[in-house]
Amino acid sequence: MGELGALKAELHTLQEKALAEFTKAENLNALQALRVSYLGKKGALTDVLKGVGKLPAAERPVIGKEVNAVKTALAEGLSACEGSLAVLEKQRRIQSERLDVSLSGRQSACGSLHPVQQGLDEITAIFSQMGFEIAQGPEVEDEFHNFDALNIPPEHPARAMHDTFFVKDTDDAAMLLRTHTSPVQIRTMKRLLEEEHALPLAVVAPGRVYRCDYDVTHSPMFHQVEVFKVGEDISLAHLKGVLQHFLSTYFEKDVSLRLRPHYFPFTEPSAEVDVGCVFCAGKGCRICKGSGWLEVLGSGMVHPNVLKSVGIDSTVYSGFAFGLGVERLVMLKHSIPDLRLFFENDVRFLRRMGA
Ligand code: FA5
Ligand code: MG
Repeated sequence: MGELGALKAELHTLQEKALAEFTKAENLNALQALRVSYLGKKGALTDVLKGVGKLPAAERPVIGKEVNAVKTALAEGLSACEGSLAVLEKQRRIQSERLDVSLSGRQSACGSLHPVQQGLDEITAIFSQMGFEIAQGPEVEDEFHNFDALNIPPEHPARAMHDTFFVKDTDDAAMLLRTHTSPVQIRTMKRLLEEEHALPLAVVAPGRVYRCDYDVTHSPMFHQVEVFKVGEDISLAHLKGVLQHFLSTYFEKDVSLRLRPHYFPFTEPSAEVDVGCVFCAGKGCRICKGSGWLEVLGSGMVHPNVLKSVGIDSTVYSGFAFGLGVERLVMLKHSIPDLRLFFENDVRFLRRMGA
């Protein structure tokens, strides 16, 4: 076989090999690399063409034709493979980007009110529906409103009943974190009278209070709702009626309640009110300290000195007042054994409470 025959054979082998490799290319990039390696300036075909110079001039056009035929064959082979690879790559992409619209959606976490806030709102709403006006007062109070105006003069032993957190204001005057919501009685009675509000005054005042206390039924920050009504002929019977209506509405059933004689400087007579312990059904347990009852509020008939301090004639008017512990009531309603759970904010607890 002469030079011409050898070149022809070489071209033939190259074509076969190239076409076979084109069909095996896995993607368009690999195919492009093959194009360069066969048809590029430094590619296999160029190598073969180097042999053409050795041929006699008469044979060169023959091989030229062959080379063009190989080039055409390779170009056709490439574009055929390119076409099928493009289809394949599109299919792969569609596959990988496929969305299953029948899958169920991801749940996004939804926040809600803290159980104590829910209780506070519920309790306030019950009194509001009974016609009590909503009022608020400051959490940083002065001694006058937290104690003096409530018939607790300095040096009076009743001040020691509340373990008070004292703070100083910017002028170094002694202030405190209110130990109860009763100072709101004073502020609100004064304000309503200044606004020439007609008696009776009926007010509900929810809010935060602070005491140096800590155990299963005591927290250093807790919530009270103060309720009072002042007018003509207000008696202990009104107090009891309002309490009974409130408790059965809040607990959505009749609950046993007990008025236990007590002493508050700002009411006379005074009573603490207990609700039957829901944890032991009244048998006595750790939470009710064996008594079968849980104290939920303090109450009484507004002391004449308190009415006097806001300029109400105590010979004509009288009133009842009570301050209830919000956490205690929420605990009882939802059978929560430790009041401190409210403030640890363990999300498992909050979720169970529907928060
Ligand atoms: C008072 O605070 C009086 N101001 C209530 C009052 C108002 C009496 C109007 C008369 C007229 P006492 O200290 O008992 O009273 O607290 C009232 C309620 O707050 C308690 O019955 C209890 O339910 C709740 N409480 C008291 N201390 C704490 C505490 N550390 N943590 C959680 N709840 C508490
Ligand atoms: Mg008490």
